[in-house]
Amino acid sequence: MNIVVFASHGGSNLQAVIDAVKEGRVEACVKAVISNNSGAFALERARREGIPAYHISLKTEGSEEAVSQKLLDVLAEKETDLVLLLGYMRMLPVEVLRRYHHRVFNIHPALLPRHGGKGMYGIRVHEAVIAAGDAVSGVTIHRVDEDYDRGEIVAQAEVPVERGDTPETLAARVLEREHTFLVETLCRIAAHDIALGD
Ligand code: GRF
Repeated sequence: MNIVVFASHGGSNLQAVIDAVKEGRVEACVKAVISNNSGAFALERARREGIPAYHISLKTEGSEEAVSQKLLDVLAEKETDLVLLLGYMRMLPVEVLRRYHHRVFNIHPALLPRHGGKGMYGIRVHEAVIAAGDAVSGVTIHRVDEDYDRGEIVAQAEVPVERGDTPETLAARVLEREHTFLVETLCRIAAHDIALGD
């Protein structure tokens, strides 16, 4: 299973995938890491592991069409089976979503459909969970299609909200679970328990 990861920032989830692949816990290969942000630590993590790292953005390509074409070229060259959005802060071009229909997955740090949608990312998600008084938060892995935020949920794991939690303490607990749950879900995809493609 050839994986291409898109990430905009730190890439701790990317690292969890890389480690699981290296240790033989997931039968897959991380073929490339792509970021819209040249300063993303995720790109550095890729380079350290000898994984091709690409900065692809409007700045590097000059137009939305060129970005879309470049992404398609890289994905084709890597014979990509699975695209993972792990903290990627841009919408994927519709051409990419169509070409890789049912093969693009995103990880979200809450139990969708609660606390998702436009502007709900990073610490804001955990602030919203606490403000709502939820007793449980969690991790959602869902397909990304043209209806961006409403793609099919394929897996969810619960994480308790504890008394006295701040958005930061909750974020840390959820992120830790993301790392293990992402790997568990990749194993299910590799085992065809969750289908790839049409
Ligand atoms: C994660 O919380 C993920 O759910 C969200 O972005 C964050 C990425 O964290 N989509 P990292 O870059 O993998 O550390």
